[in-house]
Amino acid sequence: RTEGGTDVYELTERAADVELLPGLRTRIWGYDGSFPGPTIKARSGRPVVVKLVNRLPEPTVLHLHGGHTPAQSDGYPTDLVAAGADREYAFPMRQRAATLWYHDHRMDYTGPQVWRGLAGMFIVGDAEEEALRLPSGDRDVPLLICDRSFAADGTLLYPGLEGKPGVLEAYMGGVLGDVILVNGAPWPELRVARARYRLRLCNGSNARPYELATGRPLVRIGTDGGLLAAPRTVDQIRLAPGERADVVVDFSAYKLGERVELRNLAAEGAQGKVMRFLVDRDEPDDSAVPSRLSSVERLDPARAAVTRDFEFTSGSLHGGRGWLINGRPFDPARMEARSRLGDVEVWRLTSDVAHPVHLHLSPFQVLSVNGERVEGPPEWKDTVELREAQTVEIVTRFTDYRGRYVLHCHNLEHEDMAMMAGFEVV
Ligand code: C2O
Ligand code: CU
Ligand code: CU
Repeated sequence: RTEGGTDVYELTERAADVELLPGLRTRIWGYDGSFPGPTIKARSGRPVVVKLVNRLPEPTVLHLHGGHTPAQSDGYPTDLVAAGADREYAFPMRQRAATLWYHDHRMDYTGPQVWRGLAGMFIVGDAEEEALRLPSGDRDVPLLICDRSFAADGTLLYPGLEGKPGVLEAYMGGVLGDVILVNGAPWPELRVARARYRLRLCNGSNARPYELATGRPLVRIGTDGGLLAAPRTVDQIRLAPGERADVVVDFSAYKLGERVELRNLAAEGAQGKVMRFLVDRDEPDDSAVPSRLSSVERLDPARAAVTRDFEFTSGSLHGGRGWLINGRPFDPARMEARSRLGDVEVWRLTSDVAHPVHLHLSPFQVLSVNGERVEGPPEWKDTVELREAQTVEIVTRFTDYRGRYVLHCHNLEHEDMAMMAGFEVV
């Protein structure tokens, strides 16, 4: 619905029984009762209002991941929408074209609530991107990838390794499922023409990283924060939870009747199977992948007003173990940093084990990994995977909105076990 230049969406969170696995019914919690939720298409500069109606028995919080959003609509983890209540979220869309996603963000419960289905994709377009003639329409395909575990009757299991020894250990590492779903279906097959397709890959898993590959080079055109300056040909794409990658696959390089498999090289067996494409027809294709996609401003760390340190480690929590930032568990009332609006800042992130670290409000650029400068044109990211015992320096600039936001690990069990910090833009 459109109201005076604003796109208004109503999303109703409700329980539903849907078919995820062939022939079985699974009770999910979904936006509009679907898994994943509907894909929202927005346009840079054109505000979106989402009216969220919570028909679930528990409170929820909506967050637009990658959104450049005023604090009151960013889904601070304690800004709850009570069971049976509703509220409006305003997304001004003062941001460039990018592949975003939305999901639940309730403090301490994000893992289980996303696991039940509270996630969907959100695509932002703009004029710059349209002028490029990248594949569009039904050749622009959002792919939300997530792993889940099921009981024999189709019931979702959380944690995924329930009933097996060492459940607590598994939970500390984050919950893994043994079935990989793409847009809610296991090992699906998409019929494609011999033409270029844009695949918008989003890792919506609670804890599983992927190494995605088709066996032939992939042309990567975008990342969390939109288009790269120029396309980059790679053999595989690593995606930690929360990260996105836009790729163009040219299926005219395949023969009619050929099947192309998108696999996850980070796992074997069923967890290595993501989806298939069946090349089943010839069709004209006037799309292109220009050698220059966009201009990406480089943030200069020499202009940083401050350098801050954030340590991501395990530690004691409520008498047990949990995951902490700078030795402290998330306290929604405590601000770990106060940043001045408009300032450039360098944040130095260090890890014990792997943590996909996500920053709200503003995208960032990765400066260095373990002291080694990252070469090449700058890229806008909102989530960066720290591997084991790493130090990653990022540079960011908080613009447009003041208020309270969060920085957290996007391993959702780590997030729920308190690996989150509030910061305030003043
Ligand atoms: Cu994708 Cu703070 O979340
Ligand atoms: Cu986010
Ligand atoms: Cu973590």
